[in-house]
Amino acid sequence: MIRSVVRGYGAALPKRVVTNRELETMVDTSDEWIVQRTGITQRYIASDDETTASLGEKAARAALDNAGLTPDDIDLVLLATSTPNNTFPATAVEIQNRLGMKHGYAFDMQAVCSGFVYAMTTADLHLRGGLAKRALVIGAETFSRILDWNDRTTCVLFGDGAGAVVLEAQEGEGTIADRGILTAHLRSDGSHKDKLYVDGGPSTTGTVGHLKMEGREVFKHAVAMITDVIEDAFEATGTTAEDIDWLVPHQANRRIIDGSAKKLNIPTEKVVVTVDIHGNTSAASIPLALSVACADGRIKKGDLVMLEAMGGGFTWGAVLIRW
Ligand code: ACO
Repeated sequence: MIRSVVRGYGAALPKRVVTNRELETMVDTSDEWIVQRTGITQRYIASDDETTASLGEKAARAALDNAGLTPDDIDLVLLATSTPNNTFPATAVEIQNRLGMKHGYAFDMQAVCSGFVYAMTTADLHLRGGLAKRALVIGAETFSRILDWNDRTTCVLFGDGAGAVVLEAQEGEGTIADRGILTAHLRSDGSHKDKLYVDGGPSTTGTVGHLKMEGREVFKHAVAMITDVIEDAFEATGTTAEDIDWLVPHQANRRIIDGSAKKLNIPTEKVVVTVDIHGNTSAASIPLALSVACADGRIKKGDLVMLEAMGGGFTWGAVLIRW
């Protein structure tokens, strides 16, 4: 059977680092409050010349280099983002053009913080369905552009960045010893849409809007939703928490990450955490974390890696990959 195997990874971060100390000069907050509640110490913020498309292109090129491939080898560009360059066309086609591709197809996927998990699942279906042979799956965001920089309850949490992987269709045996995506589970429940949303849009206000969040409500649901969907992935593959080499969660908040790992009995040494340096970069957070843990030698070929995310909608999901 066809498996979607990760051939390469890459990341891109804006030039500018904004520390908690710098935020103290902008809103009524403190380094201590932010670290204690979220684990975040700094985040990267895009300058005027950096956009979702430019960061996405940079991450895509890094992933192609890492895979030893060129844009000619790619048939599908799938971008997970909630902060596109324009309402339309899809920012994925802009990245496709920046990569010099005239062949293949490109589109955006919007599932907020779960975007990368949704995009990996979708790319896997395209590869296994024979529509494409190799896909660039990118998560890229410039959340700084939709933050209300006077709202201390949200502006301290988010950052900008991009990450990407190259997925390649390869023949597998159909067992969990195969390399590639082994199972994927997606969920959503729109009854929670007002708990985390942007108060603008083309069809309503005609404006871009700003991010609004009921932080406590999100927190209350996050751990249960994340652990439920990971348990679905265990059940579908006959694996358990003990089989997992690495949990690579969406990097929203240290307390949500620790709470989920604890409930699943996954030891902290097996959890990749980058929220401290990146903040919450929404759809970019998982591929950014993957890039860090691959580059420093933690994630190796053959490792069993669980990706999970939960975010606005609510949306949530998990993808189990043999690296
Ligand atoms: N600096 C200082 N004080 C602050 C700040 C800040 N940046 N923000 C809020 N406060 C104050 C509040 O005003 C409140 O003060 P009060 O008691 O005088 O009214 C106090 O701190 C406590 O506020 P809470 O909102 O109750 O703080 P809480 O402990 O719930 O922490 C947080 C807030 C960190 C947002 C938490 O609810 C959380 O982690 N929620 C999850 C949300 C999340 O991670 N979302 C990311 C997007 S969704 C996703 O990616 C999954």
